[in-house]
Amino acid sequence: MPEKHKIIIDSDTAGDDAAALILAAKSDTVQILGVTVAAGNVSLEQAAKNSMAALELAGSDAPVYLGATAPLSGEEKECFSVYGKDGMGDADIIHPKGKPQTKGAVDFILDTVRDNPGEIEIMALGPVTNIALAIRKDRETMSKVKRIWSMGTAGFGPGNATPVAEFNVYKDAPAYRTMLELGVPVTVIGLDMDDAPTWTYEDKLAEMREGNDIQRFIEAATRKLLEFKKGNGIPAVDLPDAVAMGCLVWPNFVEETAQCYGSCITEPGETYGMVIFYKEGFTYDSMPKIGRCNVSVVSKAKKNEFVDRLNAAFRS
Ligand code: RIB
Ligand code: CA
Repeated sequence: MPEKHKIIIDSDTAGDDAAALILAAKSDTVQILGVTVAAGNVSLEQAAKNSMAALELAGSDAPVYLGATAPLSGEEKECFSVYGKDGMGDADIIHPKGKPQTKGAVDFILDTVRDNPGEIEIMALGPVTNIALAIRKDRETMSKVKRIWSMGTAGFGPGNATPVAEFNVYKDAPAYRTMLELGVPVTVIGLDMDDAPTWTYEDKLAEMREGNDIQRFIEAATRKLLEFKKGNGIPAVDLPDAVAMGCLVWPNFVEETAQCYGSCITEPGETYGMVIFYKEGFTYDSMPKIGRCNVSVVSKAKKNEFVDRLNAAFRS
């Protein structure tokens, strides 16, 4: 049995983050050292409550740490609450027993990495403000992170916050740029890995409503998301954070990655929050091959297996 991944999960916990937290808690390939939260889908306080409720339901005692209430710039990028006001379907299912830790998220990240150099992997499921703040505070320590996994960017497809920008990057593009420039291995799972084969359609949601407590929790948590998606003609919910977590916890889920140089646009304007991926070894018409890479972008995964694998974990 290979050694477990020692992970910190950084999250802006709404329905799909909650599914990812539960998947991690139910997986024997990872050890969750802590969950750090930031505002994004919901407020910081709500993200903490949602995280604790999901972890408790999964039987995990992983501690939760409060982080950023706003992006690095301090200027909030307004987005719709597609998951509902509480991020969990406004279904009155969030009643955590626990409380967040008194230590802050940034200090928890730095202390954990400092005490375990070269061993800690961070799974970033929201805006990466906490990670950027940790880099600003102690870059030398953060350079000892083993790998950052990021549910972020549009990958090689379209965006969701704008036609070219994905929500987690759009909410704090300077933070994302800071993360990309850190220089530790980064694996990006973009929105393009979250397309139709990974969606949970209404028939499956109906089955989950008759399922166990975790399946019922996630079905309820995604009800407002289903309304939003149906408004776009899609009778299903997507769980991008759980897809990203699947890439980490399931050793044979990822089939291909592309080595790239990722460049995050932080200038104001139509392309704000876009991440351009220059593929290694590829000669573009107007530029020579790039000589440097900073990310591995997941370009192929066993997407058709995702929904069944996720529900098997929920039932385990
Ligand atoms: O674009 C999808 C991402 O934005 C997911 O992490 C979702 O939870 C939101 O944070
Ligand atoms: Ca998220």
